[in-house]
Amino acid sequence: MPTIDNPTQKTLRELGVTESAQISPLFEEVRARFDSQANRQMDAHSYEMLRQSWIGRKSGIVNAITENWLKPSPVELKRAVGASLNQLREHIEVVLKTAGLAIESGAEESALAREKVDLSLPGAVRPIGSHHLIRQVFQDVEDIFVSIGFSVVEGPEIETPYYNFEALNIPEFHPVRDDMDTFYIDLPKGAPTPLLLRTHTSPMQIRTMEKQKPPVRVIVPGKVYRRDNPDATHSFAFHQVEGLAVDTLITFCDFTGTIEYFVKQFFGPGVKTRFRPSYFPFTEPSVEFDVSCIFCGGSGTAASGATCGKCKGAGWIELFGAGMVDPAVYGFVNYDAKKVNGFAFGMGMDRLAMLKYGIDDIQVFFQNDARFLRQFP
Ligand code: PHE
Repeated sequence: MPTIDNPTQKTLRELGVTESAQISPLFEEVRARFDSQANRQMDAHSYEMLRQSWIGRKSGIVNAITENWLKPSPVELKRAVGASLNQLREHIEVVLKTAGLAIESGAEESALAREKVDLSLPGAVRPIGSHHLIRQVFQDVEDIFVSIGFSVVEGPEIETPYYNFEALNIPEFHPVRDDMDTFYIDLPKGAPTPLLLRTHTSPMQIRTMEKQKPPVRVIVPGKVYRRDNPDATHSFAFHQVEGLAVDTLITFCDFTGTIEYFVKQFFGPGVKTRFRPSYFPFTEPSVEFDVSCIFCGGSGTAASGATCGKCKGAGWIELFGAGMVDPAVYGFVNYDAKKVNGFAFGMGMDRLAMLKYGIDDIQVFFQNDARFLRQFP
């Protein structure tokens, strides 16, 4: 490199500097050179090059000035050279520091821009599910009974014949079992007891009374299974809510009053109830509850003037079975049949849902067709 372009490689003597007045212009020239280089557009790389070439420990120009100008300078010039050199170094450091910060924050800004999250963009829409209509009806029924002092218990869907039948006063070979011909589980030979899918929620009457002394007020929501052939009103699996109230002074009036309260809460105040004699081995007397037809208002005649298709002109729709607990049942749970009495009922949730929402095929509850389910968000 020609020395004329690079005076910092020479000593002051070689440059012909002998007086302190010559020093300032010499440094100004260097400073101007630095300024013109520092004024250029820089990225992180070119900035680092500039920094090295000026204040790099060994190869930097500031170091060259120290080595070539300051150290060998005559004593009378040393002070002035030292002062100018300090000023120059300070200037270079300040300019580099500012430029360095600008480059750093520029990098940060572009990183921010790159990683920016636009909160105004629509997000990924995750469809929100809803409860199945049967679950909603369970919830409605539970709310009504809980509000009058019942608590909710649940029990196993796989039962022993003892709980499903015998303890409910249905001995083996009792003809009523034929109605509930059911699904037995295949068990290895020598299993202690056969097992079956429960045909009703009534086994929980027994399990509850075994566990606690009266008073008892429970409802039991759950799934039940029967060997029914599927049609518009039958399915191999359906849903029930069992009810049981046992205490010392429970009368038939408490029973019908409770049922009537429930039916009016569930279907609305305009609905009437009636009961007819029926038969269940575990209730005596047993009844079948009917409601006035929800569709024709109990008149038996549809709005069109034709016979109501839902109640077939009867004006009443069969709702569920119930009755006063048969004293024989208390014998299975060590309750004193002379001291306690109570009532029990077993309602089909699918039936209640069909009546309340005008659904004419029970199968839609099990088909999981979203077009049906979406109607009951
Ligand atoms: N368990 C009976 C059924 O499923 C209903 C019922 C329950 C009847 C309680 C009377 C008392 O058909």
